[in-house]
Amino acid sequence: MLTTLPTNFWYAVEFSRNLTHTPLPVTLMGQQYVLYRDSQGRAIALSNQCPHRGAALHRGWVEDNCLRCPYHGWMFDASGTCVDIPADLPGVPIPKRAKVATYPVQEQDGMVWLYVGETPETAVAPIPHLLPELGDPKWRAVYGEYTWNAHYTRVIESNLDVSHAAFVHPPFYGNRDRAAVDEYEVTTTPYSATATVKAPAPKRRTFLKYLLKEENRYSLTTITVYLPTINRIEIDFGFRGYKYIYYTTSLPVDEKTTLAKYIGLRNFLTFPWADKNSHDNAYKTYIEDQEVVQTCTPLAAPTDFQQELLVASDALIIAYRKLLRQYETSAARSLSAV
Ligand code: FES
Ligand SMILES: [Fe+2]
Repeated sequence: MLTTLPTNFWYAVEFSRNLTHTPLPVTLMGQQYVLYRDSQGRAIALSNQCPHRGAALHRGWVEDNCLRCPYHGWMFDASGTCVDIPADLPGVPIPKRAKVATYPVQEQDGMVWLYVGETPETAVAPIPHLLPELGDPKWRAVYGEYTWNAHYTRVIESNLDVSHAAFVHPPFYGNRDRAAVDEYEVTTTPYSATATVKAPAPKRRTFLKYLLKEENRYSLTTITVYLPTINRIEIDFGFRGYKYIYYTTSLPVDEKTTLAKYIGLRNFLTFPWADKNSHDNAYKTYIEDQEVVQTCTPLAAPTDFQQELLVASDALIIAYRKLLRQYETSAARSLSAV
């Protein structure tokens, strides 16, 4: 069971558009990091703990491309080296140990990715490129975030779940007589699993209701999970090529808390005034899911296939748990080799 942070992975931790010269905190399973953007626009990531007396560096500020601690003003450059101790008299050398850990950072798909691990970042799962639609003028994007009172594996599984909608989401209640899920195929890579399922369309009073004809009662949904935190759900409404993409990173803040940051993309009603509807739908769906997901025990999704009884419609969740299991085994192997 995954109760610690999977390491040797890139984590999509923040929207690129949110990262400025103002330091931002990030928490992954209790570990704190701080991010900021320097004057060249580069994203920098450091440990959020000042080596002097432990203050959180994100409460400080960026000065000459360095991060100044808010407590006694020590200043750290992008390599984590302390370059100024204001309380020391002139000429006093800065101790070698006055350093904070730094982390590799990249940006892709509208997100800032932070690397956490010992293995060189070039030898691990690459950052997935799953959002080529972002930035395409035919698509309109909205950004949002929610906090779940649940373990991140349960949140990710709720995004992979193809059989709950008729019971959890009111717009689908009318589909209970069509709850059976056709057999579907799952495609996997060492880090991801994807499936396309045919599902009865929702009855929520959205703009789409007016755009879609009555005969378009089914949508094709392609669902992907990419370790450790990414979900991508693409809904094809089968009408004029209209699609909705929900891309989310489910960040493990701690064992009971998950911060989900999402980008919702649509290629219909791309006017800004329709954004509220897009946000409202995402929010309602989250509330409906969270009410049941936060009741699941044990906290983390079990990977032993004995504790819970998964059936054919759970094929994508089975594939996800197999990926987690594979990760647990390789993590245990590398630990025992130490
Ligand atoms: S705790 Fe950061 S400078 Fe003192
Ligand atoms: Fe749901």
